[in-house]
Amino acid sequence: MLASTLLVKKRDGNELSDDEIRFLIEGFCSGAVTDYQMSALAMAICIRGMNRREIATLTRAMLESGDRLPRPDRLAEGRLASGRPRVDKHSTGGLGDKVSLILAPLLAACDVDVPMVSGRGLGLTGGTLDKLESIEGFTVDLSDQESSRILKEVGAFIIGASERIAPADRRLYALRDVTGTVESIPLITASILSKKLAANLDALVMDVKAGSAAFMKTESDALRLADSLVAVGGEAGLPTTALITDMDQPLGRAIGNAIEVNESIDVLAGQSGAVRDLTIELCADLLVQVGVAPSLDSARTRLASTLDDGSAMERFERMIAAQGGRLSQPRRLAPQTEITADHDGFVARFDCSSIGQVVVAMGGGRRKKGDPIDHAVGVRVHHSVGDPVKRGEPILTLHCSTVQANDYAKLLANAVEVVDGPVCKSPLILGRLG
Ligand code: URA
Repeated sequence: MLASTLLVKKRDGNELSDDEIRFLIEGFCSGAVTDYQMSALAMAICIRGMNRREIATLTRAMLESGDRLPRPDRLAEGRLASGRPRVDKHSTGGLGDKVSLILAPLLAACDVDVPMVSGRGLGLTGGTLDKLESIEGFTVDLSDQESSRILKEVGAFIIGASERIAPADRRLYALRDVTGTVESIPLITASILSKKLAANLDALVMDVKAGSAAFMKTESDALRLADSLVAVGGEAGLPTTALITDMDQPLGRAIGNAIEVNESIDVLAGQSGAVRDLTIELCADLLVQVGVAPSLDSARTRLASTLDDGSAMERFERMIAAQGGRLSQPRRLAPQTEITADHDGFVARFDCSSIGQVVVAMGGGRRKKGDPIDHAVGVRVHHSVGDPVKRGEPILTLHCSTVQANDYAKLLANAVEVVDGPVCKSPLILGRLG
């Protein structure tokens, strides 16, 4: 087989066979298929697409490029011999999405284990690992023995992917990131599921974001991605469901690293709002999937009381301490500059892309892999779409460590559109699959 012949085949819109897909991925890992050939393949897949069988084979080939976490508690036929089910959530990424920080300890306090492998921020969306590293001493690099011990003792950990988990995805994602080939349903499906299958989970819920601050700009594209993830995950033996959720406005009130940890702690302390609502919905879905709750309603009730009675917070504190973090140190934020409404009205729209770009420019995110992060910078969002505002009231608060704060404030002056008449609030959950 010749890689170049297979590239032509996909370029011309033909299906690749299972053997051909495996040949390309194995060759990419061994060096026989070069980075430029793989980039060309990614572009051909982006433009021509793949059918379900091709996506499933690509996912499996990428999974098989690395190791799977052992599950000694699982019987051969997949049933649990003893112990707690293992679950995870994966979000396709959005502005202010700090759900993982709350979800992992909340579920651990509800009798399920969450061995969460997360990523770093790249582009406009923040990364869970960068947020957690704003906690003094916290480490995202644990040995297999340490992570197994923490899972046993605490029920949750949040770490970075090891070199041995789906290495084909790690290398392919780095190429996609710089070749305009991230936004492809087959490639996103194989990328996410190869890593989640390696974690040997009992259930996965996907949070597929739709809107201006997400990969999928429209609800129909988000639905197509969700459908692909649910179908390919299920066929590969990982029960997968998906929620389609709104990303036309930031999630919650904080965007940045330390500032999002602070908001997560507020939610763990019982604060209401979109972050709590979405976390409860995603967790409820998982508790029902693994049979820990008989219905979504009973799961929601249990999750709400686990947040309100302090058990989720206690689990969070134990998880942070187990990973070396010291929560007693307050997370410092950079000096603040207010952006105020210039007339009375109602919040109609957020320019999420400008807000995200300013957070990255201030040092809260990366322009390229390896850039350092300033954990203290960020943006506080004072309102949601539909909220009334008064002239002179703060609509955004900028936390900036440099003298350029006023320039950034000017860039954000029009990032929140305020109109005269009332505006409908948009629903947080746009759809469910699976
Ligand atoms: N997240 C991933 O892990 N992979 C993608 O391709 C997109 C989002």
